[in-house]
Amino acid sequence: MDPSRYNQDYLPIDVEALQEAVSRRLIYRIGKDPFTANDWDWYRALSFAVRDRLIERWMETQRSYYRKDIKRVYYLSLEFLIGRTLTNSMLNMGFMDSCDAALQRLGLDLERLREEEPDAALGNGGLGRLAACLLDSMATLDLPGTGYGIRYEYGMFRQKIEDGRQIEVPDNWLSRGNPWEFPRPEVVYPIRFGGHVAVGKRHDGSRYVFHWMPDEEVLAMAYDTPIPGYHTDTVNNLRLWSARATEEFDLQCFNQGQYIKAVEGKALSENISKVLYPEDSSSENQKLRLRQQYFFVSASLQDILRRFQSNHDDLRELPDKVTIQLNDTHPAIAIPELMRLLLDERELEWQAAWEITVRTFSYTNHTLLPEALETWPVGLFSQMLPRHMQLIYEINRRFMLQVSHAYPGDGDILRRMSIIGEEGGKRIRMAHLAIVGSHAVNGVSALHTHLLKSSTFADFERYFPGRIKNVTNGITPRRWLNQANPGLALLINEAIGDGWVKDLERLQELREFADDPAFIERFADVKMNRKIRFAAYARRHYGQLLDPHTMYDVQVKRIHEYKRQLLNLMRTITHYRRMRGGNARELMPRTVLIGGKAAPGYWRAKQIIRLIHDVADVIDNDPQVEGRLKLLFLPNYDVSSAAEIIPAANLSQQISTAGMEASGTGNMKLALNGALTIGTMDGANIEIHDRVGADNIFTFGLSADEVANLKHAGYRPREWAERDEELKAVVEMIRDGYFSPEEPDRYRNLGEDLLNQDPFMVLADYRAYMEADERVNRLYAEPAEWHRRALINTAMMGYFSSDRTIDEYARKIWRVKPRR
Ligand code: IMP
Repeated sequence: MDPSRYNQDYLPIDVEALQEAVSRRLIYRIGKDPFTANDWDWYRALSFAVRDRLIERWMETQRSYYRKDIKRVYYLSLEFLIGRTLTNSMLNMGFMDSCDAALQRLGLDLERLREEEPDAALGNGGLGRLAACLLDSMATLDLPGTGYGIRYEYGMFRQKIEDGRQIEVPDNWLSRGNPWEFPRPEVVYPIRFGGHVAVGKRHDGSRYVFHWMPDEEVLAMAYDTPIPGYHTDTVNNLRLWSARATEEFDLQCFNQGQYIKAVEGKALSENISKVLYPEDSSSENQKLRLRQQYFFVSASLQDILRRFQSNHDDLRELPDKVTIQLNDTHPAIAIPELMRLLLDERELEWQAAWEITVRTFSYTNHTLLPEALETWPVGLFSQMLPRHMQLIYEINRRFMLQVSHAYPGDGDILRRMSIIGEEGGKRIRMAHLAIVGSHAVNGVSALHTHLLKSSTFADFERYFPGRIKNVTNGITPRRWLNQANPGLALLINEAIGDGWVKDLERLQELREFADDPAFIERFADVKMNRKIRFAAYARRHYGQLLDPHTMYDVQVKRIHEYKRQLLNLMRTITHYRRMRGGNARELMPRTVLIGGKAAPGYWRAKQIIRLIHDVADVIDNDPQVEGRLKLLFLPNYDVSSAAEIIPAANLSQQISTAGMEASGTGNMKLALNGALTIGTMDGANIEIHDRVGADNIFTFGLSADEVANLKHAGYRPREWAERDEELKAVVEMIRDGYFSPEEPDRYRNLGEDLLNQDPFMVLADYRAYMEADERVNRLYAEPAEWHRRALINTAMMGYFSSDRTIDEYARKIWRVKPRR
């Protein structure tokens, strides 16, 4: 890349300069010389050299936001699943090749140093990774975006497998330091909890005033991580908060010689930012979780108002200069918190404060699953945040009044729309709070938004027409193609140039190559190379031998019943059974790869992991199927291993029960890298289907409407099994201990639950899935045609760039413009 594009004052990025920078950082920053330095030292020296070049652009970007007094976006998210930063920074800043050459001169191997970096795994799955992709796109599009979240000391647990069972190991990712963050000890805000609210009159007697008298205070301290855009000087900020005790010691206890007690308070306060909750698609009603939410929301809002007020006097202008996106309801306490800051601390009137609040916030809904819709018990909430509880009651009182005017005499609608739910004790419905307190609410795929409007939030759609919008999720092509699959990136560059990295729709130009057999062959070679590379990875990391000449059939995502890893497993058992019965001559050799973490308290998901291992054991030890069928569980699926698995996949399993997966983003990553999808008409699969065309995707099964109708009519899974001998046999093999002979009852309840309840309709979709799998099989037998269709998938995925997602947010919801 052309260095002259950069401001002349910036540090040089040619090979000599980088070589010198790395050597100097090793000595002056790490305190080592090349004789004693190990890979970790070199990794850090390199990271500091790269970081120096980030931070100067970061500063200039931030200054330009102030200079231009530009409207800013704040993305509040309890999760940011970023993964590794080194390669991403070098590629985005355009000096990866120079760094590589500089390291070679120093006798170092970049590939090896990269492996030293731990993943920043501050998220569970799709929601957290989306936040990371959106940050990349905001910076790339020169939009003034800042992420706010928590600097968890322990991120997502590492998954180990012992005897087929998931063991959770703490992810102590900061133990050796983190070169990508800048601690900001001067940026600290007090966060208060508990106590009570005193009511008084303003000195002129004109109105009531409320004084929150908290009984606990914790400090939030900022850590900044620069987020560079791709081939632009824009470097945005991710600000993560860490909890600090206000006092190191309780001096009174200390002086009395009670040393342990003297530091107990400190430990308790600092627990707030200790660990990420490992729950995906279910809500966790723990006190500490609520403390985390308020902690990061309050610190972020104080910071946002401080920044705004440093150059604006009139708070009524806030929505013209600030827009705040709530990533799910986890940060929805921001709504009463901003009201509190405006009413109690800035003395605005209710109406003015409420207008500012609603115009400032927007909310992204990520799920329709009832168990994932957050609610908090009023009792717990009042204890921890008494003033916020009052404010929520007042917000709700005014809202209910308006609703009752709109629907006179309809008590039922008040009960349905209320922010306070009365079923099973009084609880705050955070989604209702977020909808009422935001000017825009969005779903994350066309189907998901349709379902939000027509069922879950139908009352709100009617009452606030137009408030609910769709913004289909996307993924960043920088990380998920350019960086993860350099071989494919190079091939694409040769064919159509590299404009696609910033404008993914340009991949459509690849379509004409679908009729060029020589190009298809090269495309197929890239895939084969990645399969070979993954086989080597599997050998190194899992001690497993894979055959790259088999089809890599991949399902990687959190383990959840609605994602139906069980359906995949039943298909694999069916293949196994057919082979044993001599009825599978036509089956193309397969390697079925399943990876993902289960929430530690999600017993059924953990049981499914164990069953996958038990089935894999039986298959592995059966010489009759050797070389034709292999099942492997990939432990500890994370962002870094995703970048190895995804480019190697031939087939992408996206088989959730229709209506349950809000979007999925793994589906996009796999298709972009030339895997064909087998999937239900769910989430963004539908939009993938519409773009790649029905011939280039294998869809099957019940639609969301059909799932709802079948449930309504009374679904009796046992009857489905009775009607289908093969299905019945497969369920019985699981239930009766075929895969667990040493403990025949291990999966009895799982099998019985399938036959009796099967809430995710595995049995109902089984036959259609097997038929779709046969279509997969037939096509895979024609490699040229398979790869042609895979290329069309890559070519047609432009829509799923997170740049398009961000562009839609910017225009439809945020109304922000690029800084240049
Ligand atoms: P913050 O956004 O206020 O946290 O500041 C981030 C960075 O913006 C600082 O490190 C400065 O580089 C820059 N900055 C802060 N205040 C100003 C200002 O008033 N004018 C121009 N730049 C500023």
